[in-house]
Amino acid sequence: MQYYNSIVDTIGDTPLVKLNKVTKGIKGTILAKVEYFNPGNSVKDRIGIKMIEDAEKAGILRPGGTIIEGTSGNTGMGLALTAIAKGYKCIFTVSDKQSQEKINILRAVGAEVIVCPTNVAPEDPRSYYSVARRLNQEIPNSFYPNQYDNLSNAAAHYETTGPEIWSQTEGKVTHYACGVGTGGTICGAGKYLKEQNPNVVNVGIDTYGSVFKKYKETGVFDENEIYPYLTEGIGEDILPKNVDFSLIDHFIKVTDKDAAVMTRRLAREEGMFVGWSCGSAVYGALEYAREHMKEEDVMVIILPDHGTRYLNKIYNDTWMKDHGFLEARDFATARDIVHSRNISDRLLTVDTVMKVNDAVRLLTKEGISQIPVTDGEQIVGSLTDSKILGQLIEKPEIRDSPVSELMDPPFKFVGLDNTLDVLSSLIDKENKALLVRDELNRVHIITQADLLSAMAG
Ligand SMILES: Cc1ncc(COP(=O)(O)O)c(C=O)c1O
Repeated sequence: MQYYNSIVDTIGDTPLVKLNKVTKGIKGTILAKVEYFNPGNSVKDRIGIKMIEDAEKAGILRPGGTIIEGTSGNTGMGLALTAIAKGYKCIFTVSDKQSQEKINILRAVGAEVIVCPTNVAPEDPRSYYSVARRLNQEIPNSFYPNQYDNLSNAAAHYETTGPEIWSQTEGKVTHYACGVGTGGTICGAGKYLKEQNPNVVNVGIDTYGSVFKKYKETGVFDENEIYPYLTEGIGEDILPKNVDFSLIDHFIKVTDKDAAVMTRRLAREEGMFVGWSCGSAVYGALEYAREHMKEEDVMVIILPDHGTRYLNKIYNDTWMKDHGFLEARDFATARDIVHSRNISDRLLTVDTVMKVNDAVRLLTKEGISQIPVTDGEQIVGSLTDSKILGQLIEKPEIRDSPVSELMDPPFKFVGLDNTLDVLSSLIDKENKALLVRDELNRVHIITQADLLSAMAG
């Protein structure tokens, strides 16, 4: 008889499947590692069992114990399956912006789910982070896995995902691409692959609104890079311990829209009904492959989860239209404003050491009312004509001071897919302009005047 002793014994050994249609025009072989073949339908089953077994070995979790995590989706399911097999109780705290469906899925596998308010700071005692931490302190024999900083996460991929990719490709893999959330998948498997062949290139996929790419490239944790985005599972506003930047060779950022459209193509053109971050991974990986791969190269892309969790979002045409992801023409976005500009237009900036007087001359000459302030390559502040005027009236001598003395905080960054109504809600008396990074990573400014002329058509 051929059978498994428990459902958790079926975790891992997921198939590699060649992508045939969406890869048109790209050199080399592109293989998807389809993680929805795991019993909980996602890559996170691998870390659920590993974090629990490592906690048992460390004596943190003993028979009859309780597992507590702040999770809304895949990791909860992964933990729940192993908890069932081993007889543990699960309590998950989720924020109230999560869909009822996701909560129901976790309850279906026996977890207790506590719904916490979204609109409170992480350190507020009502937040889902704080509630999870408090329950962990109050409940005896309870274990708080914390997938972000628990290194058993990356270890699970070092021990399973990496070796599977190496043996399935018979050591021929040259490129490994993967979305980066906690960093466990890219760094665990990426470390194993580089140990087998140091020439393997690890490509991390990031979202707009996340800090990873800039941190890797400049060493700067830039809070201005942080803004809300929709793609689930990848990108962060923190640096989790599982992200080892030395193992990630390149980061590519992918917009919510490009990811959503690619995810739908994977379903329709490849027959892979996968989740939203799978579109991000494939879109970003192919962008890299188009420029860098040779005919003999082999790229493996991780597809983390299944499409069912996204039926009411990216697989719903009305939702796609409402978000401007289907008929972009009907919903003008920051992208349209940026694309309507001359390719040679450069962002005007002033340096922190420039004299206020010279900055005023520049604003007047260019006919603009606000300008970002830079220190070398970094945007560190902003200057607006109304602020300068007020200050000059109070203290005329300030005209000989450096700009750094009267600059305000930098303008906020927003995503390319934000529609005009969202952009206009972000511009007010305090925030006179917004910044946006285009597909080539160039920074553009968007002002009230830009919004008005875009709306006038
Ligand atoms: C859907 C999805 N995609 C990608 C990832 C990223 O993987 P990792 O957390 O290992 O970086 C996650 C993790 O949360 C996820 O849930």
